[in-house]
Amino acid sequence: MESIERQLFSNPWSREYYAAELSNHFSHFYVAEAVPESAGKCPAARGGAQEAPLVGYLLFWRLGAELELHKIAVGRAWQRQGHAARLLEFFIQAGRSWGSERAVLEVRESNVAAMRLYERYAFRPVARRSDYYTRPQEDALVYWLDFTGSVADL
Ligand SMILES: CC(C)(COP(=O)(O)OP(=O)(O)OC[C@H]1O[C@@H](n2cnc3c(N)ncnc32)[C@H](O)[C@@H]1OP(=O)(O)O)[C@@H](O)C(=O)NCCC(=O)NCCS
Repeated sequence: MESIERQLFSNPWSREYYAAELSNHFSHFYVAEAVPESAGKCPAARGGAQEAPLVGYLLFWRLGAELELHKIAVGRAWQRQGHAARLLEFFIQAGRSWGSERAVLEVRESNVAAMRLYERYAFRPVARRSDYYTRPQEDALVYWLDFTGSVADL
């Protein structure tokens, strides 16, 4: 995870930061791992000691009726293969199953890949936060998905 963080983010979260983050009762963290082909066929391989390669992950807060998406990341080698879409679909389905009213997130205004991803799932930009990010300094766009209105079917 730390290597994906360093690969993708100018302000990577450390292992300690994640540990503190995950000690919050409202934090939810899910990972996507690559399952070696052999593991499906050979029962012995499933219990093997080797760790499955990490493909990507998702971290969000559940605060009452609101979900806050704080991190979605897919390692460079795994990008453009639909992994973030699957992670986001899982997030949206979790929100619906909990009866959440909305999901919110912030994104760098230059992060076209992430914005296209969110827009594909009916997130809409609702606000701008000036100079929200550092390294480099940049505005954040706030995106919002209303679970109670009409949203894209999954
Ligand atoms: C944004 C990110 C999570 C997308 O992951 P991914 O697994 O490559 O995305 P997917 O393959 O599931 O693509 C789903 C949709 O996202 C959009 N998308 C993803 N990468 C894109 C790119 N480079 N340019 C434009 N749109 C892109 C597209 O709409 C795509 O649908 P399509 O393939 O039908 O066109 C990934 O690029 C990433 O980890 N970026 C760095 C971390 C980050 O910026 N996270 C978000 C802020 S916390």
